[in-house]
Amino acid sequence: MHAPRPTPVEIPDGSVITAKVPPLGPSDRDALFARAKKLLAEKDAVLVAHFYTDADLQLLADESGGYVSDSLEMARFGREHPASTVIVAGVRFMGETAKILSPEKRVFMPDLDATCSLDEGCPAEDFISFCDAHPDRTVVVYANTSAAVKARADWVVTSGIALDIVEHLTAQGESILWAPDRYLGGYIEEMTGADMLLWQGSCVVHEGFKASELEELRAEHPDAAVLVHPESPADVVAQADVVGSTSALIKAVKDLDSEKFIVATDRGIFHKMREAAPGKMLMTAPNAGFGATCESCAHCPWMAMNGLQNLVRVLETEENEIFIEEPTRKRAVLSLNRMLDFARQRDRKVRGNA
Ligand code: 13P
Ligand code: SF4
Repeated sequence: MHAPRPTPVEIPDGSVITAKVPPLGPSDRDALFARAKKLLAEKDAVLVAHFYTDADLQLLADESGGYVSDSLEMARFGREHPASTVIVAGVRFMGETAKILSPEKRVFMPDLDATCSLDEGCPAEDFISFCDAHPDRTVVVYANTSAAVKARADWVVTSGIALDIVEHLTAQGESILWAPDRYLGGYIEEMTGADMLLWQGSCVVHEGFKASELEELRAEHPDAAVLVHPESPADVVAQADVVGSTSALIKAVKDLDSEKFIVATDRGIFHKMREAAPGKMLMTAPNAGFGATCESCAHCPWMAMNGLQNLVRVLETEENEIFIEEPTRKRAVLSLNRMLDFARQRDRKVRGNA
C-alpha cells in the first residue's frame, strides 16, 4: 500500500517542510491500524512513539506492546526491548539515537524527513569548530541533535535529566559548552548557576508561545495551572506552575489538584494527558506558530509527518531504515551511554530514598 505524499507548507523561517499526513476516514483508519499491528508482530518489530505523535500511533504502540514516552525513555526502551526491529515514530534524532544504542537492530521511521529545528540549526561542522574554539569546556548537547554532533559531545542530555547532569558537572567545577537550544540552556543556567556558553538554536514550536497573550489567558482562567516545556522562552517559563519534560508535564496533570491547565508544549501530548486525568480541562497556551491564525496550533510539523499510512508502508517495504557510519556511532554512543548510566544511578538513588 502506498500512502500519498503529504503536501508541502511554509514555516516562518521561510523553509518548506512537508505537512501532516492526510487524515483518514474511520474504515481506512481501522484497516490500517489492524494491518500495522499484524505486521509489527510478523516482523518482530516494536513501535516506540513520542508523546507528540498522532493519537492513533500512540494507541497502536500501547496496544502492540510498544511504548509511548519522552525522548529519554524512548532511548532506554528501544535499547532494552528484545525485538530485532525498532520502528520509531517521532523525529529523526530519536531514530538515530535508537540505532546508535542498538546497532544490531534494524531501525526504521515512517518518514526520514521528519527532522527538528534544533537539529537543523546545529550543523556538525560549525558545531565542531565552536567546540574546538573552547577546548576548556565540557561539551553537553541536547538529544535533539544529529549523530555527528553527539559524537563530538562529552554528554548528551534530554529535558528529563539536563538539570541533574549540569548540576553534577558544576559540582565538579566544570564549565559547560551547551547546544543547541538557547532557551533550555538559559533555563538550566538560571536554575543551577552553572557557567554555560550557549549555542543559539531554538525550537520553532516552543519559541512561538507568547508571554503577553499567556498573561491574558491566565487572567481569564485564574484557577488554571500553567505547564511549560523548558524549550519555551524565559518570559513564558516565568509564568509556569510546573516546568519540565513531556513526562513531567503529563504527571503534573495527574498529580495537581487543579481541574484546568494551560499547556505550553505540543498539543499531541493531550492524548496522554487525557488518559492520565480524564475530565480535566486542557488548553493550549497562546501560540503564533507556523502561519497559524488559530489559538491551538502548537504542533510540531515534523512530528506530524508520522501516521498510520506511512508506518504501514515502511513495515511492508522495509524502506526508511536508519544507518549511521560506525566511527560516528562509536563516538556518539559514549556520550549517550554516559547519560543513560547517570539516569540509572539517579533512579536507583531515588528508589533507595523512597
Ligand atoms: P522530551 O524529551 O521532553 O520528550 O522533549 C522532546 C522534544 O522534542 C520536545 O520538543
Ligand atoms: Fe524539535 Fe521542537 Fe519538534 Fe521537539 S517540538 S521535535 S524540539 S521542532
